[in-house]
Amino acid sequence: MADTANRIKTFAVLGDPIGHSISPAMHNAAFEALGMPCEYRAFRVRLSDLRDAIHGARALGFGGLNLTIPLKEEALKYVDPDPIAARIGAVNTIDFASEITGHNTDGIGALRALDSAGVDIAGRNIVIIGAGGAARAIAFQFAYIGGMIVIANRTQERADRLARDVTIGLLELEKRPVVRSIGLAGLASEIADAEILINATSVGMHPHPDATPVSSDLLHSGLTVFDIVYNPLRTKLLSDAELRGATVIDGVRMLVHQGAEAFRIWTGREPPADVMLEAALRGLENRS
Ligand code: ATR
Repeated sequence: MADTANRIKTFAVLGDPIGHSISPAMHNAAFEALGMPCEYRAFRVRLSDLRDAIHGARALGFGGLNLTIPLKEEALKYVDPDPIAARIGAVNTIDFASEITGHNTDGIGALRALDSAGVDIAGRNIVIIGAGGAARAIAFQFAYIGGMIVIANRTQERADRLARDVTIGLLELEKRPVVRSIGLAGLASEIADAEILINATSVGMHPHPDATPVSSDLLHSGLTVFDIVYNPLRTKLLSDAELRGATVIDGVRMLVHQGAEAFRIWTGREPPADVMLEAALRGLENRS
């Protein structure tokens, strides 16, 4: 491993594009709050350069990496994934403590976002809308800890495939997941019985803030509604949910907690989640 002349440990997020990443602000605020001699930077890395970038970072003595679009799936080829990352099929955190280990903290980030709002997952009826990368991470993690999950997606075959992958993947880990899949037409009756509703699609994201994945008349006061979209912070889905008396949780909390979990993996220290949230909110404000 390379010697760092200035004894500052470097961490980084890699992606393409990467200019708007909030991660440097979040992690640098955490390092500063804990008085740790570390820095966190963002690098634009093309898919074809990912292998070299990961090995280069390790050779330079970096403490760890985060990965974002479009590198998360490709990274599986170059790391030793932990069991959850392997089954999700994507890596967002790499640590170099021993070898090159890949983790996926997106699902844990969502879990802690709900947990920090006092919402339990185990044994709860949960509807996840979406079957892309984010939905995949959340479905695996929530099924792993005993949520009863319905995956609803515009393209139902993708939902079916995800439900099947979660079932097979978790049976291999000796869990007994409860997962079903439906098309969006089946949402009404499922939401009526649900306790937690998660939007894991990009619907409602800038530049289409008036879009929502769920008609407001389906929302009710027995629901906790969590939206992974954080731009805007208050999506139409969350505004509608609030008007219907539901509890709402915004997407920046998942962003913060996936980062906090990476911080915990790299440093072994308890991440200052409040400091990270404040930095993320400030970063988002400056961005808009
Ligand atoms: P990510 O990895 O960020 O989750 P993705 O793999 O492109 O991104 O998945 C996006 C998700 O949002 C998918 O579930 C997609 O539905 P399809 O599988 O049918 O494409 C969903 N999505 C995107 N735009 C949508 C829209 N206008 N209405 C409903 N679902 C939408």
